[in-house]
Amino acid sequence: MNRIRHLLARQVLDSRGRPTVEVEVHCTGGECGRAIVPSGASTGRAEARELRDQDPDHFDGQGVLRACENVTRVIAPALKGMDPVDQFALDARLLELDGTPDKSRLGANAVLGVSMAAAHAAAAVQRCPLYVHFHRLWVSVPQAPELPRPAEPRMPLPQTNMISGGLHAGGNLAFQDFLVVPRAAKDYPQALEWLVRIHRRLGRLLQQRQLEGHLVADEGGYGPRLAHHEQAIELLLEAIQQAGLVPGRDCWLALDVASSHFWDGRCYRTGDADHAAYSPDQFIEHLVQLAEKYPVASLEDPLHEEAWDDWARLRSRLPRHVVLIGDDLLSTQPQRVQKAQRLGAADGVLVKMNQVGTITETLQTMRLAEAAGWTRVVSARSGETEDTTLADLAVGTAAHQIKIGSVTRSERLAKYNQLLRIASGVTATWHEK
Ligand code: PGA
Ligand code: ZN
Repeated sequence: MNRIRHLLARQVLDSRGRPTVEVEVHCTGGECGRAIVPSGASTGRAEARELRDQDPDHFDGQGVLRACENVTRVIAPALKGMDPVDQFALDARLLELDGTPDKSRLGANAVLGVSMAAAHAAAAVQRCPLYVHFHRLWVSVPQAPELPRPAEPRMPLPQTNMISGGLHAGGNLAFQDFLVVPRAAKDYPQALEWLVRIHRRLGRLLQQRQLEGHLVADEGGYGPRLAHHEQAIELLLEAIQQAGLVPGRDCWLALDVASSHFWDGRCYRTGDADHAAYSPDQFIEHLVQLAEKYPVASLEDPLHEEAWDDWARLRSRLPRHVVLIGDDLLSTQPQRVQKAQRLGAADGVLVKMNQVGTITETLQTMRLAEAAGWTRVVSARSGETEDTTLADLAVGTAAHQIKIGSVTRSERLAKYNQLLRIASGVTATWHEK
């Protein structure tokens, strides 16, 4: 049998020019799998911990040389001789080696780098596309509820960033992402074409109105200085119309409010000209009004990451068609998804592998979500690279949606293009939601 022969790790740079971990898993048959770990900026408090060197003379303390060393000195000897295809056994060994609840000993960046690279090696060993390997894992996740329906690989519907605010832009808007969901597109290539068209129309619109249509934020979305988040929504609706599409029929909006990052412990401080601070009750009221006034498909992190009861209140007030997605709230952690399900606090999960740290745990979280009929959105981070693992993860697990960022910047396009490659195969069907 093909076995793991050795592991390599190196420090490379992400889309913000910050160091991150790249891992290679080499097998006895000569196959190799390689992956790069992403990194967030608007991180949740419950996320697994990245290990950074804290050496002020090296990348301002953000180096990841210690995490790389943990891969080669601690993880490599322990994984040598294991079967790369047995992702669940590999991840269990990684958890054992780290031994902390938040992966802080070895670093979630070290652990996830190995977990992802092993999946690539497994696909190479089996001579199958990565999404097919993920699909095999998806239907056999340990300690997960039964799959409610037959699972087939499926192309996810993109939710694409057009305007950015929050921690990803220059403090222009409190809300973080204003996204478009091209629901009525007949297939993934058409969805992508619509998104590019809307992005271009929006750029032109911003320039015509002297709203900084050239400036882009961390994920490639425009970063105009606007007075209010409703102005961003209105501009987006106009751009959709100028693209010859109908809001609420062809394309819907998604909002990542990322509200933990403007919650000050008492109020949601949006800083808007007409209403600078909202109490939780006022903010819930405001969100419900937004969802009723505009064609909103989903709200992500509309309330802060520990406001469980307020989430449940908002869920009961929102129209049913608006999906309530937990990102910081759930941090891709199975226990937090279970808590949200008990409380009725959400009905969608943003899935980021590095929030939990292994592929097995990511799949367990997704299975819990699937069993409850939730919407699953596989997501990139604001700090990304050319790594495309998440595109295959989304297809292999038949995720409903994928959130990659804007349709510009190569670290984003790497994923959109990987989805085009997969879509040109015959085995993956289009989304349902
Ligand atoms: P992050 O942002 O990667 O900076 O956390 C992405 C998101 O909030 O969805
Ligand atoms: Zn988010």
